[in-house]
Amino acid sequence: MKNTRIFLIGVCAVVAGVALVHAAGWAVAQSAEIKKRTTPMKQASAKELDFPKGTATPSVECGECHQAIYREYAFGFGTDLTYKHMAPKSAQEGLLSLKGRVSSMGTAHSISGIDPWPIHARGDEMGGKSCNVCHYPEPFEIPDLDKPEIERPKARPQGQETEGITCASCHLTPDGKIRGPYGAEAPHKTVKEPKIKTSAMCAHCHSAGKRVVGKQTQTFLEWRDDFFKTGLGSQQCQDCHMTRTLRKLAEAGDGSARPVARHSWTGGHSTQRISSALSMVMVADEQNAANLKFYVINIGAAHSVPTGSSRRAVFLSAEIVDAGGRTLATHEWMFAPWFGDRPNY
Ligand code: HEC
Ligand code: HEC
Ligand code: HEC
Ligand code: HEC
Ligand code: HEC
Repeated sequence: MKNTRIFLIGVCAVVAGVALVHAAGWAVAQSAEIKKRTTPMKQASAKELDFPKGTATPSVECGECHQAIYREYAFGFGTDLTYKHMAPKSAQEGLLSLKGRVSSMGTAHSISGIDPWPIHARGDEMGGKSCNVCHYPEPFEIPDLDKPEIERPKARPQGQETEGITCASCHLTPDGKIRGPYGAEAPHKTVKEPKIKTSAMCAHCHSAGKRVVGKQTQTFLEWRDDFFKTGLGSQQCQDCHMTRTLRKLAEAGDGSARPVARHSWTGGHSTQRISSALSMVMVADEQNAANLKFYVINIGAAHSVPTGSSRRAVFLSAEIVDAGGRTLATHEWMFAPWFGDRPNY
């Protein structure tokens, strides 16, 4: 081993690997300007707002009053979100990118109805069937945290998919009220819903079916069964993915500043988020320096890494290079959830 240098490209490869698998074309669903509200709140509250378009209500309508939250949701304000062009199978097929109005950031929730990757995938895999019901759901009840099996939400009709996951998707209850942690007085009906501050809020779309260890689309169940219930920690999804700050709920409202969650949901499109998940240690055997062990340790996520869809993977590539720059050995590992119930499926 005297003249041998060992290069570990694992950490770079982890980041590069995720970027490669998960790079997506992108844009933003909402119009670029948050219109300044001209009608005073009191006047608006004289006639209570309801939302006849349901979860297809464009988020910019809520953004007229909830400006800071809208800016995070639609433009990724305060995040490092980026969406690269996406090559679905081969570069020859052409890259997927968003048509029309384009912005450089925006949360995955805000683009979920126009993200070209799922639209391409369902065309390719499902003959165009609107299988991705969680990308544009009707109002739902928040399930109990202990529910053994998580049902899929109901999808909106096809003509109403493009708004994606709107403010109303998470906040509108099936009986037409706006759920929130406080039940504050507002120009629309509100209902105090303590469950909105727990992981149960995310369960419907971030898990499907029963717990199957190793399978894809299990994020909520991984969190519940492997982290929360085992006593490893008490953080809810929001504590990491929607960190809070003190501010008014609605800029022009009468309410005072309170803890408000940043609607930024950084995940696979954020380098900051991905690089906080794993740590790595390399150990050389004393007897045989050529025998190397790699430990990949989850230090930042309260669920598996990578989590979510089997379309993503983390790669660890090791390459041993001698003093002359010649590669002596290489090895690559892939970490990814399974598509189905078994590792061979
Ligand atoms: C005309 C202005 C206006 C519009 C439009 C509006 N809101 Fe509000 N909303 C308010 C005000 C004002 C409050 C109360 C603020 C306070 O007490 O500080 C509020 C409160 C809330 C709350 C907090 C509820 C709680 O627990 O206290 C949520 C959640 C909310 N709105 C969501 C929405 C959503 C979703 C939409 C669009 C479908 C929307 N709002 C549209 C003005 C508006
Ligand atoms: C109505 C369904 C729904 C709910 C409820 C929901 N999500 Fe999502 N979420 C999605 C979908 C669909 C995507 C992917 C959209 C895309 O990339 O096109 C997503 C994407 C994300 C991402 C980003 C992943 C990436 O690729 O960058 C994070 C992080 C996230 N959600 C966290 C949460 C948290 C935390 C909650 C609960 C507070 C939550 N979500 C509630 C459906 C939902
Ligand atoms: C993916 C689900 C999701 C979407 C989409 C969403 N919210 Fe929220 N919202 C939440 C959750 C969860 C909370 C409670 C956060 C917490 O734990 O403090 C919340 C809280 C709020 C509150 C109360 C203040 C607070 O943070 O507790 C307001 C107001 C609000 N949201 C408005 C909006 C508006 C306006 C939009 C669209 C621009 C929007 N939300 C989109 C999940 C969502
Ligand atoms: C202790 C902090 C923490 C908690 C709590 C947490 N996460 Fe994460 N989450 C992370 C980290 C770190 C990553 C990056 C690793 C990865 O991409 O797999 C991540 C990644 C994600 C992604 C990205 C997947 C993708 O395809 O881009 C989603 C979605 C997500 N989390 C959802 C959730 C949900 C839903 C919950 C609650 C059930 C939750 N997280 C709880 C830290 C956390
Ligand atoms: C149970 C809810 C759910 C269903 C059903 C669902 N998805 Fe998703 N999808 C998500 C969530 C949540 C994410 C983002 C986070 C993750 O990786 O879990 C996502 C992300 C994606 C992505 C990656 C988007 C990007 O830009 O990163 C594609 C592609 C996708 N879904 C396609 C589909 C297709 C095709 C179907 C139907 C076969 C489908 N989805 C059904 C919840 C769902």
